[in-house]
Amino acid sequence: MATFDNPAFDAHESVHFFADHASGLRAIIAIHSTALGPAAGGCRYWHYDSSELALTDALRLSRGMSYKNALADLPMGGGKAVILKPGATPDRATLFAAYGRAVNSLAGQYITAEDVGTRVEDMREVAKVTRYVSGLAGDATRAGGDPSPKTAYGVYLAMKEAWRFATGSDALAGVRVAVQGLGGVGGALCGLLHREGARLIVADISETRARQTAREYSALLAEPDELISTEADILAPCALGGVLHARSIETLRVRVICGAANNQLANSEDGERLRARGILYAPDYVVNAGGIISVALEYLGSGSEAEAQARIEKIPLTLRRILESAAASGTSTSDIADHLAQECIAAAAARRSGR
Ligand code: NAI
Repeated sequence: MATFDNPAFDAHESVHFFADHASGLRAIIAIHSTALGPAAGGCRYWHYDSSELALTDALRLSRGMSYKNALADLPMGGGKAVILKPGATPDRATLFAAYGRAVNSLAGQYITAEDVGTRVEDMREVAKVTRYVSGLAGDATRAGGDPSPKTAYGVYLAMKEAWRFATGSDALAGVRVAVQGLGGVGGALCGLLHREGARLIVADISETRARQTAREYSALLAEPDELISTEADILAPCALGGVLHARSIETLRVRVICGAANNQLANSEDGERLRARGILYAPDYVVNAGGIISVALEYLGSGSEAEAQARIEKIPLTLRRILESAAASGTSTSDIADHLAQECIAAAAARRSGR
């Protein structure tokens, strides 16, 4: 299927395909919008059953980055890269050097960083061949480094806000939180929730990781395909996207959904399905902006760790605005968030073209 006919195509500014025979690199970089600044978003390294699915992922994820960066008030547009995991295990350093050359060829239109399947060491390889990369290193005076703990912190604060909105209290002690996916973000989120006394139910397709997390945080273990319908107070999707769809929404037994995974809703109508079921959905790209806030400040060289933290602590305010507006208008929270982001991007595009 041609890119323009892909249902996830949404007037993206450009989509770039890269192949490098020597390293085995096959990558797609989708630039959704540069209205607010260079397109920023992570690089996903994942096995896709087809290149069509990889393209769909890049298109959906890059649009989400435009919306995320707009609502986090960052001077960045939205882009995303996916690297299709090769069949044979590649030399990782060579692969990411080739990916870095691909990023470099876009001359700063796209800024890369970590996402699912990539880590700080990969970005260090990328940084050897391009300066259009972030998520490398931070210290007390400069924001930066692995974005996952920052994302987890933002999700944690947003979860408290969503719970307060639903119940009148933001205390999570004794509250049952089901966490799907225990990687960089999900694992760190479990740590924060455990410290507050939340009761955790966890699942990961990596059995080792699931058992380790359950032991560390005295959590109950669930099967990965059962976690979504587990009875709990809050569901935190922290694995991959598309987990909330017509069928799974029917089976949910939680009051609130607040997690890090990008593109949790399979379709735009799923936000309304959640609203109709009386489940409070905290829009993914609003609550998971902590990582990109850190990555953006690092790239721009314009902020300290303290400033990144202060900006992450504003995520609950943005969320509250969305939850209140959705409740007042009887609209889904996802539609309200999309609308706010679209307005912000359209205003920037109009300013840019002098209209
Ligand atoms: P990660 O790769 O470190 O962890 C993902 C985890 O999910 C892995 O442990 C994997 O085994 C598990 N998993 C995959 N499919 C699963 C399933 N069906 N059921 C249960 N577990 C499953 O990724 P990371 O960085 O923690 O990201 C998690 C999500 O958060 C992704 O959707 C990512 O796009 C999103 N996100 C991450 C940010 C970051 O700073 N790392 C920033 C914003 C969003």
